[in-house]
Amino acid sequence: MAVPKIRVKLVTWDEVHGWAFRLARLVEESGWRPDVVVAIARGGYVPARLVCDILDVHDLLSVQVLHWGRAAEITAEAHVKYPVPVKLEGKRVLLIDDICDTGDSIIVAKKHLEERAAPAEIRTGVMQWISAVAKIKPDYYVEELRDWVWYQYPWCRVEDTTNFIEKIVGETGRKEWTRSELVEEFKEWYGIDVGEEVFEEAFKKLVERGVLVLKE
Ligand code: ADE
Repeated sequence: MAVPKIRVKLVTWDEVHGWAFRLARLVEESGWRPDVVVAIARGGYVPARLVCDILDVHDLLSVQVLHWGRAAEITAEAHVKYPVPVKLEGKRVLLIDDICDTGDSIIVAKKHLEERAAPAEIRTGVMQWISAVAKIKPDYYVEELRDWVWYQYPWCRVEDTTNFIEKIVGETGRKEWTRSELVEEFKEWYGIDVGEEVFEEAFKKLVERGVLVLKE
């Protein structure tokens, strides 16, 4: 197989569950207990919910930071989409994201919460920390990545696959494909197989958007 165009790791639900347990244990072992968990939307939702489950935290909020556009491409400066209207005075807050890549999402979300919600303390936690590129080091992390990789998490299989295929169509300048040609090309470019159901959903979206024409 050819060398993939970008490094991608296909993440399973079991891996996510294992990392959430390890993240929760790190928090527990530090002797600190959050009153509130705040998920950075959208990537932080599932890990934040799992950490709440494991630590028995019932207060879960979210702040959405926009930053990453198409898969693996930054398209805008990180900013909060909907300002957080709550006050969290006196609360210990654990801010969770799936991955700390550049660190901008966490930096922006933390600053926003400090300014708007004024909690007693904010600590940050992620499953993956890309130390090679991140501007910050989260308080809690499960894996340190010394090389940049795109983690293809299971909650955004269709979205990432759609964007990855759109990139193939754009960069090759070729709009007409058979299903099997495109699946093979995808595997060569990204080194992963996302399965028939996900491929079909991504194809459907791209055909509807006029980006792709499928030949029989
Ligand atoms: N979101 C931002 N950076 C990412 C990465 N490297 N992998 C998966 N999701 C991301």
